[in-house]
Amino acid sequence: MKNASARLAMAERRAPGDPMHRVVEDLLARLEPIESYWAFPGRITFERLKSMFDEGEFTSLAHTVARTTRALMSDSYRSRHVHVLPTEDEEDDEDRSDTADERARARPYFEVMIVDDLSPHQEYTLKRSLRDKRRAEDSFVYESVVVGSFEDALIGVLFNYNIQAVVIRYGFPYTSRHGLPMLTRYLNRLGDESFEDLPPEEYGVSLAYAIGKLRPELDIYMVTDQSVEDIAGRVCDNCRRVFYNQEDYMELHLNILRGVNSRYKTPFFTALKEYSKQPTGVFHAMPISRGKSIAKSHWIKDMGDFYGMNIFLAETSATSGGLDSLLDPHGPIKQAQEVAARAFGARHTFFATNGTSTCNKIVVQALVKPDDIVLVDRDCHKSHHYGMVLAGAQVVYLDSYPLNEFSMYGAVPLREIKHQLLNLKRAGKLDRVKMLLLTNCTFDGIVYNVERVMEECLAIKPDLVFLWDEAWFGFARFGPTYRLRTAMHNAGMLRERYQTGEYRAEYEAWKKEFDKADPDKDSTWLDRRLMPDPDKARVRVYACQSTHKTLTSLRQGSMIHIHDQDYKAKVEEAFHEAYMTHTSTSPNYQIVASLDVGRRQVELEGFELVQKQVEMAMVLREKVATHPLLSKYFRVLTPHDMIPDTYRESGIEAYYEAGKGWNDIWEAWARDEFALDATRITLLIGKTGLDGDTFKNKELMDKYGIQINKTSRNTVLFMTNIGTTRSSVAYLIEVLVKIATDLDERMDDSSPVERKLHEKQVTSLLEDLPPQPDFSRFHDAFRAKGTQKGQGGDTPEGDIRTAYFLAYDDENCEYLGLDDGSLDAEMAKGREVVSSTFIIPYPPGFPILVPGQVVSAEILKFMRALDVKEIHGFRPELGLRVFTEKALKTAAKK
Ligand SMILES: Cc1ncc(COP(=O)(O)O)c(C=O)c1O
Repeated sequence: MKNASARLAMAERRAPGDPMHRVVEDLLARLEPIESYWAFPGRITFERLKSMFDEGEFTSLAHTVARTTRALMSDSYRSRHVHVLPTEDEEDDEDRSDTADERARARPYFEVMIVDDLSPHQEYTLKRSLRDKRRAEDSFVYESVVVGSFEDALIGVLFNYNIQAVVIRYGFPYTSRHGLPMLTRYLNRLGDESFEDLPPEEYGVSLAYAIGKLRPELDIYMVTDQSVEDIAGRVCDNCRRVFYNQEDYMELHLNILRGVNSRYKTPFFTALKEYSKQPTGVFHAMPISRGKSIAKSHWIKDMGDFYGMNIFLAETSATSGGLDSLLDPHGPIKQAQEVAARAFGARHTFFATNGTSTCNKIVVQALVKPDDIVLVDRDCHKSHHYGMVLAGAQVVYLDSYPLNEFSMYGAVPLREIKHQLLNLKRAGKLDRVKMLLLTNCTFDGIVYNVERVMEECLAIKPDLVFLWDEAWFGFARFGPTYRLRTAMHNAGMLRERYQTGEYRAEYEAWKKEFDKADPDKDSTWLDRRLMPDPDKARVRVYACQSTHKTLTSLRQGSMIHIHDQDYKAKVEEAFHEAYMTHTSTSPNYQIVASLDVGRRQVELEGFELVQKQVEMAMVLREKVATHPLLSKYFRVLTPHDMIPDTYRESGIEAYYEAGKGWNDIWEAWARDEFALDATRITLLIGKTGLDGDTFKNKELMDKYGIQINKTSRNTVLFMTNIGTTRSSVAYLIEVLVKIATDLDERMDDSSPVERKLHEKQVTSLLEDLPPQPDFSRFHDAFRAKGTQKGQGGDTPEGDIRTAYFLAYDDENCEYLGLDDGSLDAEMAKGREVVSSTFIIPYPPGFPILVPGQVVSAEILKFMRALDVKEIHGFRPELGLRVFTEKALKTAAKK
């Protein structure tokens, strides 16, 4: 409506013969179905708009459209009643309201969708009846919107992000009268179910189920003419109440408000606010609490001025007085974690005030004992490598597919994971394999097919624990497409699936076929989709999310989400210990409170925010692809660039193609082995002749104050988030245009020699890229006996902990120069040079060498070609810190 209305407003000056007249007619026709899903301006108002157009009342039409646009753009329709129709139409204004308190309503606003096949008059009466129940003491205010069919209800919840509750009545048809082609596409997202063939009396229950799949946070109320008890026993979890036949409007009204309030409530944030109001004498640590040390200071008063008093009033080390302890929660923190578990679809959720770096270590310590085997993606965050050291795990590093032309990695193909599991199985070590640890999604936005990975791995190792590092994926639960690839969604879904008779039958048929194949052949396992045995498979899934990275939370606010069937029986105690190991005894209450509020936000507006975030990212894609100057120097990398064809069964090439427009991503997200998170935009900048680091620092940051944190040799990554606004996207586009204009002018003024130099630089950035090195291997000194070739099983796991601590003793290490030839000379002699430290170049930010890893020629080549200045663990003046041959010999004997 917002976009279309500017053009509609021009209707005033157009006569019927004018081509603009046709444009307006077309816009009205296109808007009609869309507007029927929103309470404002509402169906009746929209019909009046149409009649103004049909009757040539163009001036009234233009004014009404302008008023509506203003109300939509400013969101004022949420906080007060907006009169959009001319005065003589007021009688028809369906949103008319009379009470003074409503006009000044400052309460949060939402919309309730009612599903029923009603005449306009019945619809008016129903809305009026609900509106009449408003009370001054209500915490929220809502308007209702009526839709007339099963399909319309699904479209309504997908389009209208204002909807917080749905009232499903009975006797409505299945099919929408709007033949929207996108309808089929959205419905396909629900999976294989076909609701259309159901008997009409089942529509209500099935609709509640389908809405729960799309937007699990919504409250559903059913009104039925069947037996309430019968329906109540069959509805899904999100159905709060079933009413019989003619509902009591007051009861419905109160239930709707109560339902929204249960998401609005923030147990810990509220407790902290209350606490901050109490007069308290501070006789414990923390002079800053209640701002005392600041208020009495002569020198740090500006700190108080800058932050304001509330933050200090809320600072305390007390765990009583209405507050709670993060280390042993029984009160509001416990409640806040419980509602967070509900919001994120977990069985248990734990807050952390020290980032996902800590969450990762907690989960690994809780589950992995020394010598357990863990499969880890090699380009994972460094916290995992340190976690492996702490746990004493035997690590099998998994190689991601390389994206050599952009100097980055993709993610680990399922075939590689299965292959490693199979190797371990054949070596008789499967019982020691404890965990698979993968990053979903990766920094660059590669997203796994979580369902498929877990299913196929469980078919080989039925009790495998999965740790999904979702540091960048906290928002995903709140977009229906993204949710398909989250750990918690799939854990819940697989757990349900394995309990069904349908799955069992499917599995038995599959097993019959599988048993005919030769189990000793790799192809038997690798070339088909494997199915786990429902009697053996245990769903054991953990996800760590940096809430602060993608949702509202103060820095370091993270959550651990758990759906582990064996948590209570096998993990709870160990988890508690691990949590104690890594959690400060002085956790920051402001972070905990912000996690609680961040949870409230996503439960009430996560759907809207994620939808808009994706929209912003798509706008940026479209602009770069269609702007002539931008497309001369820049290109947004597509799924085709970042995911090899073999992993994109859907064949999707790009989200936006100039000349073709938007592509449908639903199928790709449902099926492909990897998908690309559209909210992350990797911009190829090689044609500018600048490398990623220089572009980031010298152009974006120094000249225009634009911050980003991930670059590769020839790309920069722009991440949108739920706070990204249209104007920030517009600013970025403006800046990119300025950079491109500057470049153009510089090229124009340059001498032939300068131009040659530029071309050389472009070629170096786009063509002369060193291949990304694979993980070489652990040196034999750090591999368990029997692991090496010829000893009964060539499996790659290594003891990173021993290597890590061996390096504590300086005597065990020496430096070999990268530039003075000493390293090459040693390698040329046939010496196995072994790193004693983590070597982590930024970018890409993950170790290219870990303690105990053999240095390969490829790794050296890559290091030399790296033009980044920051390489952690490497001192250029000394060289690589490696183990002495003597130290390796001694370690090998142990
Ligand atoms: C994949 C991944 N996991 C974990 C982390 C650590 O998260 P935090 O900054 O919340 O400690 C990061 C940080 O960038 C990351 O990229």
